[in-house]
Amino acid sequence: MSRLDDRVALVTGAARGVGAQVASTLAQAGARVVLADILIPEGEQVASELEGEATFQALDVTKEDEWAAAVDAILTRHGRIDVLVNNAAVLHLGTVENTPPEVFRRVLEVNTVGPYLGTRAVLPTMKAQGNGSIVHISSIDGLVGMNGVCAYSASKFGVRGLAKSTALELGRAGIRVNSVCAAGGNPEMYGPWMEKMISFLDQTQHYQENRGIPGGASLEHIGQAVLYLASDASAGVTGIDLPVDGGATAGKWIEGFNSL
Ligand SMILES: NC(=O)c1ccc[n+]([C@@H]2O[C@H](COP(=O)([O-])OP(=O)(O)OC[C@H]3O[C@@H](n4cnc5c(N)ncnc54)[C@H](O)[C@@H]3O)[C@@H](O)[C@H]2O)c1
Repeated sequence: MSRLDDRVALVTGAARGVGAQVASTLAQAGARVVLADILIPEGEQVASELEGEATFQALDVTKEDEWAAAVDAILTRHGRIDVLVNNAAVLHLGTVENTPPEVFRRVLEVNTVGPYLGTRAVLPTMKAQGNGSIVHISSIDGLVGMNGVCAYSASKFGVRGLAKSTALELGRAGIRVNSVCAAGGNPEMYGPWMEKMISFLDQTQHYQENRGIPGGASLEHIGQAVLYLASDASAGVTGIDLPVDGGATAGKWIEGFNSL
């Protein structure tokens, strides 16, 4: 059932990391995939290397006119849009005191307003088709708070709210909307903070190990979760948060307690 033969899928932020993996997973499941990103040469390269039918579309998810142009281009080429994966996002690490208003606004603009604009852009097509699946990539930071990620966390909680409300609004039109809450992704996202984070290596390792399945979510596991929500395998599922977090949000794991 987790097949997408002849379906058309648009994946944002697909020039690298999670988005590139999601695009590959959906293409392997039979979808015609359109990869979108602001990283143009990188995105074109990834699209050219994918197995199956894949093309690249330049798209800044914060720009309404670029969404309209992307949807037009896809409809001209493929005639339909069955799946939208709102994956593009930016990270900012900083406490509320260390996050300037313009940075906070920018994070919300890309991570929350972007998926809202994307949803609006594909809606007329999905409504006319009478079917569609929209998957937002949220985060473990969209399920629980953490110090030092206030802007990012707010943006990822926001996208889950968008998913739940629109799932209710659009279910009768045959459109499902869900979120994948990943506890892991592309380390490149931490690029600007990598050097600083090296001094917290033990702490970050402990954070990742202290869960049912130790370690971060792999790109493959995130891709499979998106495929499930994109395909008819999840036909009755809408408005959910699917954590791909190794049980990190299931509760606390305490060293030694298995032997009590
Ligand atoms: N990296 C992690 O540890 C982690 C953890 C949990 C969730 N996630 C989520 O996974 C998703 C993918 O992130 P990733 O880990 O692959 O990081 P990444 O930085 O490699 O990917 C983000 C992509 O989004 C693109 N992008 C940024 N701004 C854009 C814009 N305005 N328009 C279009 N594209 C834009 C970037 O160019 C990049 O290709 C994001 O939604 C992220 O929040 C990541």
